[in-house]
Amino acid sequence: MSTTKKPPLANTPDVYLEAISHVLIDEETLHKRIKEMGENIASDYKDKNPVLVGVLKGVVFFMADLIMATPIPLELDFMSIASYSPSARDLGYVRITKDLDICIENRHVIFVEDIIDTGLTLGYLLKLLRTRNPASLEVAVLFDKPTRRLIDIRPKYLGFHLPDLFVVGYGLDYREQFRNLPFVGVLRPKALNL
Ligand code: IMP
Repeated sequence: MSTTKKPPLANTPDVYLEAISHVLIDEETLHKRIKEMGENIASDYKDKNPVLVGVLKGVVFFMADLIMATPIPLELDFMSIASYSPSARDLGYVRITKDLDICIENRHVIFVEDIIDTGLTLGYLLKLLRTRNPASLEVAVLFDKPTRRLIDIRPKYLGFHLPDLFVVGYGLDYREQFRNLPFVGVLRPKALNL
């Protein structure tokens, strides 16, 4: 096997390269931290058969890597949401377009999120899940932008704090693009006007 490390943007199409100003977190750093998070979850939930819940679509990359780094029995489920309107979203109200398949009553639930910004969406969904009487409900989030927080949410498992910048990659999108970048990058302001 070659030991030469590829530069992080080596396999990235030119159109993406032009839009990204720099890599904020590279692939190796992401995977190392996710492995640690999975080991912590495995040790805390060893005999609890937790249900890991995610909201489509951005979380699928993190969820896949996280559960493979969590070597215990667990179950996986997803929800889908849509905003009623921009003003409703500002209040944290969202419409559930796909609900959970698993009944979470008396189950140990870990809500897995890609990124928390204001916390409004997550705050709303946690309130909803609490009404279903889980045995416990904790949050695992990969990226946290604490400077814009409006709701007090303290994730039990946290990957990285991010500055107040718009980032893409590893599931995070800008107008549905860039999710497939294997790293997290910052978009050039010019690209935000696409
Ligand atoms: P919140 O309700 O403000 O916490 O919004 C969280 C949602 O906003 C995330 O699930 C993302 O969809 C989106 N989001 C927030 N910051 C970013 C970013 O930097 N890049 C891509 N999406 C983001």
